[in-house]
Amino acid sequence: MTHQVRAVVARGKGAPVSLETIVVPDPGPGEALVRVEACGVCHTDLHYREGGINDDFPFLLGHEAAGVVESVGEGVTDVAPGDFVILNWRAVCGNCRACLRGRPWYCFATHNAKQKMTLLDGTELAPALGIGAFAEKTLVAAGQCTKVDPAASAAAAGLLGCGVMAGIGAAINTGNVGRGDSVAVIGCGGVGAAAIAGASLAGAAKVIAVDIDDRKLETARRLGATHTVNSKESDAVEAIRELTGGHGADVVIEAVGRPETYQQAFYARDLAGTVVLVGVPTPEMKLELPLLDVFGRGGALKSSWYGDCLPSRDFPMLIDLYLQGRLDLDAFVTETIALDEVEKAFERMHHGDVLRSVVVL
Ligand SMILES: NC(=O)c1ccc[n+]([C@@H]2O[C@H](COP(=O)([O-])OP(=O)(O)OC[C@H]3O[C@@H](n4cnc5c(N)ncnc54)[C@H](O)[C@@H]3O)[C@@H](O)[C@H]2O)c1
Ligand SMILES: [Zn+2]
Ligand SMILES: [Zn+2]
Repeated sequence: MTHQVRAVVARGKGAPVSLETIVVPDPGPGEALVRVEACGVCHTDLHYREGGINDDFPFLLGHEAAGVVESVGEGVTDVAPGDFVILNWRAVCGNCRACLRGRPWYCFATHNAKQKMTLLDGTELAPALGIGAFAEKTLVAAGQCTKVDPAASAAAAGLLGCGVMAGIGAAINTGNVGRGDSVAVIGCGGVGAAAIAGASLAGAAKVIAVDIDDRKLETARRLGATHTVNSKESDAVEAIRELTGGHGADVVIEAVGRPETYQQAFYARDLAGTVVLVGVPTPEMKLELPLLDVFGRGGALKSSWYGDCLPSRDFPMLIDLYLQGRLDLDAFVTETIALDEVEKAFERMHHGDVLRSVVVL
């Protein structure tokens, strides 16, 4: 059997997205069909639409989602119809060289659904990050569904599926922020704001938020920033050093994805400190640093993919903290919108007006 549902499709490079009827197959072995309840609009969706990821148009956009499992295919035992789940793009394989070494959060062979969703004329769709959840229903690998407490709001929970997890994980997993650390976060959009929340959760003593937009700094405070720096008005490196006794922060998280801000992160950390790059640069960007400074400042320069998260370990834990009032996921939901408003949400994102617009179905 197949299902005909409404979904947001990007048909060509730079063209506005359109609402279309698509065909979703029933789940085959190892797959799950999910009724989507909410899906956040992430920068990566816009990258897909602009052809910045690859040329596999038409794309089925949307990948920060929560919903309810409608049916599962043969051999699926981890989730069952009726389960409230967050979708993830890291369904670990268990067999690749990373998984076999006990580091599944790096899994190099993650699972997606094998069957294709299509347009009505049979054209195969490429789901963004293997999810495609700006749709009433989507088909994923069962491992892409992580069961969490259904008491959570779908709009807030879904955000853990990408940007918010990337930010929190950059702090708690990749940066290994601990009690008493000083942390600076450069760029406080959805991802950076989440890194601030993560650093705060992990017990950082000082959490310095840096952005060029005062609206972002305000939300950063709400999420646990102890200090804010508008780096349009003052030098970010100087300001972070001043706030840390002249030394720099133990961990600096770059959540913009530009050489200038990476350089700030590099020089704003204390000797032997850690830089975490979670912002995604574009292919033409280059970085030049004196090699002696790389050596002389010691410490660690790391990149964070999806916050080095393990969905089965991290999603239920973070949802529990949310339900206990210890992690304000609702603060990331700037607005809820309908399925046909994704294009408008891209515009608002472009102008920096939102942390997240979330499609609610
Ligand atoms: N590593 C991962 O797994 C992962 C996952 C999701 C997103 N990302 C990336 O993280 C980055 C941030 O995503 P987002 O959703 O928060 O985007 P966003 O556009 O909401 O946030 C970017 C923030 O950076 C600020 N900014 C821009 N230029 C600045 C500068 N020169 N100095 C200081 N602040 C500056 C903006 O004002 C904005 O608040 C993007 O590059 C995105 O692609 C990475
Ligand atoms: Zn693997
Ligand atoms: Zn994303």
